Order: sequence, then structure tokens, then C-alpha cells
Amino acid sequence: MIQKKQRERATIKHEPIEKKSFKPGNVLAPVPAVLVSCGGAAGWKPNLITIAWTGSVCSDPPMLSISVRPERYSHDIIQTTKEFVVNVPSIRQAKATDWCGMVSGRNEDKFAGTGLTPEPALKVQCPIVMECPLNIECSVQQSLKLGSHTMFLAEVVAVQVSSALLDAKGRLRLEKGGFLAFAVGQYFALGRSLGRFGFSVQKRKKKLRR
Ligand SMILES: Cc1cc2nc3c(=O)[nH]c(=O)nc-3n(C[C@H](O)[C@H](O)[C@H](O)COP(=O)(O)O)c2cc1C
Repeated sequence: MIQKKQRERATIKHEPIEKKSFKPGNVLAPVPAVLVSCGGAAGWKPNLITIAWTGSVCSDPPMLSISVRPERYSHDIIQTTKEFVVNVPSIRQAKATDWCGMVSGRNEDKFAGTGLTPEPALKVQCPIVMECPLNIECSVQQSLKLGSHTMFLAEVVAVQVSSALLDAKGRLRLEKGGFLAFAVGQYFALGRSLGRFGFSVQKRKKKLRR
């Protein structure tokens, strides 16, 4: 009986854990590694920058942030056009994602260098990356100079998703995306699912009688 109650409250068995203080830094992991497209308007050519410092920040309105160092070519593009697209790559675009984070749009045409396909977006003027399964079009609402990085806070104005990520009922099945994760300086493919959102409190479905 006690065992059952523990399971319902997600209680874990405690084992001794030793902790050490470590210097403060960006150790949050895993994070996504995304391909942000920008440019294609106001005299800027289309460009791609790899970004790991990104995250959802608000549900209504839907908003996300990206943090970009001012010395990046993409920084001034986003600062002036106030638009970008977060293209979420799959493991198939891992090499392109890394390369776009190694070279600058000042010297390279990154669409030509990767073979990735720029396609018109729905609501913004910069292109989406066709091969990436998820494209999130963003309109910058605020930019915050934080120190080493400028954080662009942006509203999501359109989303495009590869139809392979939708099920027969049109529901989003992001687990089919084969997305990349970035942790401790390395790229990873996502592993096995441990349960759906809310699985810790879900009642077990009664077995259907035959
Ligand atoms: C995995 C990865 C993550 C990165 N994350 C960021 C980031 O969050 N912010 C940033 O300013 N630069 C980041 N960079 C570095 C830029 O992508 C890189 O300097 C790029 O060449 C800049 O391109 P640009 O000059 O064409 O804008 C990252 C690079 C890699 C490989």
C-alpha cells in the first residue's frame, strides 16, 4: 500500500549525493542548436547563424528569445530588419548546423555552402530553411544588451512544419523530427521517450475487455 502511494506522488529513493561548487557559467544542458535565418530584406543578403542560446519565453503571445553577440554579422541584420526565423534542424542537418556556426556571412554564402534551400516565409521577409522540419517565424519586439550578448525577444508570427511531423489527425508529432540537442560542446540525437507530458500523474488506462 505504501509503495503504491509513493509511486503516485513520484517519490524517488534517496541515495547519498555529494556536491561541489563550480564557477558560474553557461552550463545549462541540453539546449537546442538551431539555424537562425535572417536578411533577405533592407539590402541584406540572406544569412544563417547557428544559435544555442534560445528558448521559449511566453505562451500568449507566443514568444521566444535568441541571444547573439554584437560582433556576429547576423547581429546587425536582426537589429535592423527586426525579423528572423528559427529553423529547427534534424540530425540530417547536423553538419550544416555546425558549419554555419564556424563561418561568417561576411565571407560566405551559407545557403550555397551548405546546399540548404531558402524558401519564402509566410510572414517575414527572410527565408526559411526548407530542409529543417520546423520553421518558426519571428518578429523582434525588444532587444536587450545583456553584456556579451544581445537578447532579441520576439513574437512568433508564423510556424511551418514538415507534413511528416503531423499524424493522420493533423496533430503535431514533434518526436518524429529527429531533432538535435547540444550539450557539453557536443551534438546529440534525442534518445528514447520516457513518457508524455503529465505521465507522472496519469491514471493507468483500464485494460479493454475483449
Ligand atoms: C553549436 C553552436 C552554437 C552557437 N550559439 C551561438 C549563440 O547562441 N549566440 C551567438 O552569438 N553565437 C553562437 N554561435 C556562434 C555563431 O554561430 C558563429 O559565430 C557564426 O559564425 C556567426 O555567423 P555570422 O557572422 O554569419 O552571423 C554558435 C556556434 C555553434 C557551433
